[in-house]
Amino acid sequence: MTDLMSNDAQQQYRDAVARSLEDPESFWGEAADLITWITRPERALDDADAPFYRWFPGGRLNVCFNALDRHVVHGRADQTALVHDSPVTGTTRSFTYAELLDLVARFAGVLRDLGVVKGDRVVIYMPMVPEAVVAMLACARIGAVHSVVFGGFAPAELAARIEDAEPKVVVSASCGIEPSRVVAYKPMLDEAIERSAHKPDHCVILQREQLHAELGERDLDWKQVMNPDAVAPAACVPVGSTDPLYVLYTSGTTGRPKGIVRDSGGYAVALRWSMTELYGVQPGETWFCGSDVGWVVGHSYIVYAPLLTGATTILYEGKPVGTPDAGAYWRLIREHGVVSAFSAPTAVRAIKKQDPDATLLKDGDLSSLRALFLAGERLDPDTWQWATDHLGVPVVDNWWQTETGWPIAINPVREGEALFGIKPGSPTLPTAGYDVRVLDERGEQVPAGTEGAICLRLPMPPGTLPTLWRDDQRYVDSYLSAFDGYYLSGDGGYVDDEGYVFVMGRTDDVLNVAGHRLSTGSLEEALAGHPAVAECAVIGVHDELKGQVPRALVVLKAGTDPDEAGLQTLRQELVARVRSEVGAVAALRQVDVVDALPKTRSGKILRKTMRQIADGQEAAVPSTIEDVSVLDALTPVLRGGGG
Ligand code: COA
Ligand code: AMP
Repeated sequence: MTDLMSNDAQQQYRDAVARSLEDPESFWGEAADLITWITRPERALDDADAPFYRWFPGGRLNVCFNALDRHVVHGRADQTALVHDSPVTGTTRSFTYAELLDLVARFAGVLRDLGVVKGDRVVIYMPMVPEAVVAMLACARIGAVHSVVFGGFAPAELAARIEDAEPKVVVSASCGIEPSRVVAYKPMLDEAIERSAHKPDHCVILQREQLHAELGERDLDWKQVMNPDAVAPAACVPVGSTDPLYVLYTSGTTGRPKGIVRDSGGYAVALRWSMTELYGVQPGETWFCGSDVGWVVGHSYIVYAPLLTGATTILYEGKPVGTPDAGAYWRLIREHGVVSAFSAPTAVRAIKKQDPDATLLKDGDLSSLRALFLAGERLDPDTWQWATDHLGVPVVDNWWQTETGWPIAINPVREGEALFGIKPGSPTLPTAGYDVRVLDERGEQVPAGTEGAICLRLPMPPGTLPTLWRDDQRYVDSYLSAFDGYYLSGDGGYVDDEGYVFVMGRTDDVLNVAGHRLSTGSLEEALAGHPAVAECAVIGVHDELKGQVPRALVVLKAGTDPDEAGLQTLRQELVARVRSEVGAVAALRQVDVVDALPKTRSGKILRKTMRQIADGQEAAVPSTIEDVSVLDALTPVLRGGGG
């Protein structure tokens, strides 16, 4: 373990966490003072409708007001709110709080003039440009519900989200810029709308100079509609604390994404609280979060938390390596005076691979940096050690999910010191409002150090999902039905005898590729759509760089008997199908054609067993296996890396 902070500070934090569980009314009631309310909530927690919990009932606020207007009013008008640092276009642009407010109020006016009213949905499908942040906050300003779709998703994934969210307007861009290519967004958007039963009334398109999009009848040009002569700014619309701020779709096991609902009041309180109490960032300081606005980390810690805090946030349009080199993050920290940075372990592994001795890190002064936070996948001890050795600041693992919106477990940082000793491989202790329990299959709590299903006792704290978009039943079925009174996280792991949480990986079939959460179901659907495929399974296997990569096992239809050249073509076609149906981020490279898939007698494919064999682990073969010879035949393929 590394150095400890004073016992007093630790005890104070432990007491605060205990109070948040024993007396959520007083704990979260006090935290609510961090937010400017139009009407203060009557109380913190409404449990009348349990297991559907509501935070800050009766409260009325506007989240955009809290993120922008109040800082402008209180002396931060000229402070930089947002820096767009874009090595892929060779530009850097800064926006003060006053400038960002002006843009957001105008775009809110655009949306209002297009007929968007409180409760309407707006889908945002954009690369890492400031206009994405402007569009999100503009929705919040008029009480519309945004649903940001990650730019790396292909048309079918975008279509599924448009169909479920039923947006009145879609906001997009002509292109995104990847190091290897310019990605044309508009044709993908057009295809998605074509595929979707729901059609938006309008699309607002940001034309970028790298590629102009052809605009159709329903399309409007961002620049034209934002002309100050063409639009009057919109005022903030008061919303209820429990009104949705956004819906963010995430992957489950099936191909149908889950619409995670985020409320307004609970989220604003939890994020503002977390920024200072957990991440140690104060108003006026500069923070860099290297995620994407399409993921939950981007929503919470590129956009909402830093702006609710009155901090400066860096929106980075680039990669940890290759734009131009493995020193990109260190340059950002230096040039912008970043006090704390947040990224994914994959990004650190990519940097380490290209610059193992961290020579680029030593190029200049990184003294502004107090801590590096990492989340999105398990932080392996080797990566933690490398970052710790070279950065000389606390490297802090934190565990959370799209569903929770902010960390479940973290080691809080105070003035550049981790509050508790760091145990590599553990995101440390559960934070306020999270009652973490590890349960066995019967729902019994297991002893310290024993692995099981990591669950959270209900209610979960403010900011966590109140339900799934228009699907209370699916919310209950997916998360609450396994163990009465608990939320099932989907992660397996253990808690040690000092209360440290160790998250070892998903217990379901959700994939985590370079910190990107993907569903096996989506990939399998894409593969199954090929005319030669009878059935298939996708498993996530260990990868040195990306944590996990998908691997496909495919059974061909009877009578399909390609020769080696035909097999090669088939594999290429299947890889291309996943790329075009799910997206390049799925990074499927390996497809094995096999005779049969191992199943249980009830027909469930044994993905976990196959994954364990492929990763060289001891495989748990269920007694209900239908035909063990199928698994035996597959074992050399799985072990050998297949082909
Ligand atoms: N829009 C369009 N395409 C995208 C995209 C986007 N927003 N993001 C990624 N892609 C594409 C890439 O261009 C690449 O395409 P290619 O196969 O044609 O090269 C593919 O998706 C895979 O991209 P990526 O996952 O970035 O892998 P990589 O091998 O190019 O880079 C890393 C590896 C580690 C540098 C990269 O994965 C990374 O930066 N990871 C950190 C992820 C992260 O921060 N996650 C947030 C979790 S909190
Ligand atoms: P997402 O919803 O995309 O944020 O992905 C959430 C999933 O990522 C979790 O359920 C975990 O499986 C994994 N995850 C996120 N952070 C961590 C972490 N610090 N340690 C281990 N797994 C993590």
